[in-house]
Amino acid sequence: MTMDSLAFLKTLEQRVSLTSEDKSILQANAAWGLEIAPAMADHFYAYLGRDSEMNAILNQNEGRVHRLHETFIQWFHQMFTGMDDWGDEYAKCRWHIGVIHVKIGIVPQYVVPAMGVVVHEVGRTLKASGKPDELQESLGKICMIDLAFIEQAYVEVARSAVLRETGWSEALFKRLVATGASSL
Ligand code: HEM
Repeated sequence: MTMDSLAFLKTLEQRVSLTSEDKSILQANAAWGLEIAPAMADHFYAYLGRDSEMNAILNQNEGRVHRLHETFIQWFHQMFTGMDDWGDEYAKCRWHIGVIHVKIGIVPQYVVPAMGVVVHEVGRTLKASGKPDELQESLGKICMIDLAFIEQAYVEVARSAVLRETGWSEALFKRLVATGASSL
């Protein structure tokens, strides 16, 4: 499967209008992001844990919740720092996160509401901390970019698996999807 993750990141930046001002605001608040990250992780995993299906996935193997808590904190902080200024490293990291979720069966119906919870909780925390609305907007944009990566990974992995297994061409696959959709 070939995926130019950096090109995808740049396309998404255009789509959500993530500007250099947004990036500066995020970076200027990176220390605050790291400070609130553990509480955000607690809130996030408490939310996932209240859903019986997601709770079963979380507890499938020992130490998973603990590991996730740590990786969530890193992920959350990286949204503020941009890692390499939202370059190749950031793009590859987000693509990798997407692929991991596909591999373990995390479907869009889990991920979209979960990101909604992050956006809502960060907005609430931000207001309580007296942070400006601009920061909320910038964070909303970067959350949408990260969400799009996870969702796109789902589509790409499924498509490339079908093409590989069947030997179908991309055009045939698209036609079959369109035909299938029209009969739903
Ligand atoms: C806002 C959406 C989400 C974000 C930002 C997120 C973030 C992450 C990150 C950063 C990792 C670590 C990837 C790595 O190992 O490099 C991860 C793994 C994982 N996530 Fe998510 N996640 C999200 C949604 C979900 C949802 C809805 C579930 C449902 C149960 C879930 C369950 C998992 C599991 C089971 C792992 C693998 C843990 C392991 O065994 O190492 N995630 N996630």
